[in-house]
Amino acid sequence: MRKITAFIFDLDGVITDTSEFHYQAWQRLADEEGIPFSRAENEKLRGVSRRESLNLMLKGRVISEETAQAWMERKNRYYIDLVKTLDPSGVLPGVKTLLTDLKAAGLLAAIASSSKNAPLVIEKLALGSYFDAIVDGLIVTKSKPAPDLFLRAAQELGSPAAECVVVEDAAAGIDAGKAAGMLTIGLGPQERIGHADLPLPDLSQTHLSDLLKQLQTK
Ligand code: BG6
Ligand code: MG
Repeated sequence: MRKITAFIFDLDGVITDTSEFHYQAWQRLADEEGIPFSRAENEKLRGVSRRESLNLMLKGRVISEETAQAWMERKNRYYIDLVKTLDPSGVLPGVKTLLTDLKAAGLLAAIASSSKNAPLVIEKLALGSYFDAIVDGLIVTKSKPAPDLFLRAAQELGSPAAECVVVEDAAAGIDAGKAAGMLTIGLGPQERIGHADLPLPDLSQTHLSDLLKQLQTK
């Protein structure tokens, strides 16, 4: 049976619905600049860095480096305005129960997020005390699907990668978790996270004991 000592959570779209805020901020920028963009296209932006998101939104359009920087700053301003509205009620259903059960079971918990705004989001949700390590886009610049964020989190926890479970809502995040040699729980529609070891619609109906039972046989 596989030994599991830690859970490493993505932030945006797993702990809270800030993936919707990222989408709204990119959509606003795209609309202002007359670039066709849609919610469906935004699915590809989940989990990837700000720069890579801009590249995906541009779909091959060429802009100067100065414009690229200005657009990323503008998107980030729109995003932060939305994050400012967050409070502890923004924690998604099932998350607090799972974090509490992990602690009670003596398992470790970390955040591994591509976002440079992760500290602000965690502060708004008042969740800091639930995590033994927080790794974000300010600490590790190589974003998902690279395994770096998850490997750094495992290192900070002192858990071998093979004993870690990644919880992700993004296709790029599942790829990153697998590349790190970790077990993966995917949250969301099959077409996005169907390649996870354990795909689930969300965390609202999950119990730690059931998750462990299902994962330990993988
Ligand atoms: C990820 C989000 O967590 O962070 C992406 O899923 C986002 O949508 C990425 O682009 C980088 O975030 P930020 O806040 O540094 O622009
Ligand atoms: Mg995410």
